[in-house]
Amino acid sequence: MNHKQALEQNIFKVISQSAKELNLESYVIGGFVRDYILKRGTAKDVDVVAVGDGIKLAKQVAKNLPNKPKVQVFKTYGTAMLRYNDIEIEFVGARKESYDENSRNPAVENGTLADDQNRRDFTINALALNLGEDHFGDLLDPFDGIKDLENKIIRTPLDPDITYSDDPLRMMRAIRFATQLGFKIEDESLKAITRNNQRIEIITNERIVVELNKILESNTPSTGFLLLEKTGLLLYILPELMALKGIDEKEGQRHKDNFYHTLEVVDNIAKNTDNLWLRWAALLHDIGKAPTKKFSKKVGWTFHGHEFEGSKMVYHLFKRLKMPLNDKMKFVQKMVLMSSRPIVLAQDIVTDSAVRRLIFDAGDYVDDLMTLCEADITTKNPKKFQKYHNNFKIVREKIIEVEARDHVRNFQPPVSGEEIMETFNLKPSREIGIIKEAIKEAILEGEIPNEHEAAYNLMLKKGEKLGLKATK
Ligand code: CTP
Repeated sequence: MNHKQALEQNIFKVISQSAKELNLESYVIGGFVRDYILKRGTAKDVDVVAVGDGIKLAKQVAKNLPNKPKVQVFKTYGTAMLRYNDIEIEFVGARKESYDENSRNPAVENGTLADDQNRRDFTINALALNLGEDHFGDLLDPFDGIKDLENKIIRTPLDPDITYSDDPLRMMRAIRFATQLGFKIEDESLKAITRNNQRIEIITNERIVVELNKILESNTPSTGFLLLEKTGLLLYILPELMALKGIDEKEGQRHKDNFYHTLEVVDNIAKNTDNLWLRWAALLHDIGKAPTKKFSKKVGWTFHGHEFEGSKMVYHLFKRLKMPLNDKMKFVQKMVLMSSRPIVLAQDIVTDSAVRRLIFDAGDYVDDLMTLCEADITTKNPKKFQKYHNNFKIVREKIIEVEARDHVRNFQPPVSGEEIMETFNLKPSREIGIIKEAIKEAILEGEIPNEHEAAYNLMLKKGEKLGLKATK
């Protein structure tokens, strides 16, 4: 088969010509070819294999390009990279590899294209297009990767035990591709992942998180998390989620399985937001339920304080996985901490003051919090489902209405601490805090408007009660 159309951009002609000048064979391989055939849009990353010196080829290509781009050489890996327009092209010499038990860094020997294809992770990633002048665009598909693309199958070119044990990151990649592409992991491969799951321990957390993020960014993230659970990988990566699995029964009372519930929430939220961190919040919103679970005859199963416990666990989890401990983490913590607030609100009559408090506490994230809480409705009782959604609609409308009137989103007290000090001729003292708190409470309760004059009058009244004298 020929796929010349995939190689229409000028850059491929330049690579072809440069390889010819060096008397080398060269091929485009991997994700670019896969995504072209899947019509996933033109990839921005192109991998080129040279049978010979890949770095030399990169330099020759750079020389032949009009803008003479810089070549970045990674000596340890024997690879080189250059950017042309907005495409990133990586060059590597075809190789044969043998892996060390304890690392994913292979010992490398030069090899043929076939050797190189053999050492790739999946048949669908081993497809290559010839860049040679006479065979330009010819497809090389030694493992029936095209058939696997058609049948939506993830399969390894070699015995899966070898492929996964050589580079255990591939276990995560298999699950990630299955999730992203909606493919099935072939049975033997799935068994091999399960057998080799412990080898994930030699993979750095940073790389694991890249794959987790890609799973979370997919349309149906549950596919990936179910596979991680089924293969036993989840226990190594996110034991906090594993701990949510299962239903306990005591005295005829059962609680829901919070693992499957969580996955439903993640799938729900994926339909409504592309915000990766909000998706993380959905994944972690119930992790505090495992350590706080209790049973009592009177009330049955409870998870008191799970939101607070969960938000603390977010920090430890991010730290362990070497994820950013910055505002993104704080955002996830805040979402987890507040994750039960709107639902409590929506069960009752929605009052203005409850909405004001919600806006005050959630600040700029109130919309994200609502999106999380809507996704959290997984009840199979259609009446309840409808009721909660209707109430959330009311909450959302009230948020807009109350915010337009009261401006509590980024609350600034209408009377400042300095003004209180000046008015009563006070030095810094606890009375100031008491007055400020009383003003804030009165505004949130709707007793006074969020305006200076009303707040000033309340300050005078409160001060008087505290035995203070206004000096002006
Ligand atoms: N590859 C591999 N084993 C790995 C990583 C990569 O065999 N652990 C090979 C595959 O042939 C893959 C190619 O290197 O197609 C390029 O890898 P990468 O850029 O990470 O992935 P892509 O397949 O291009 O897919 P994506 O961009 O979606 O990650």
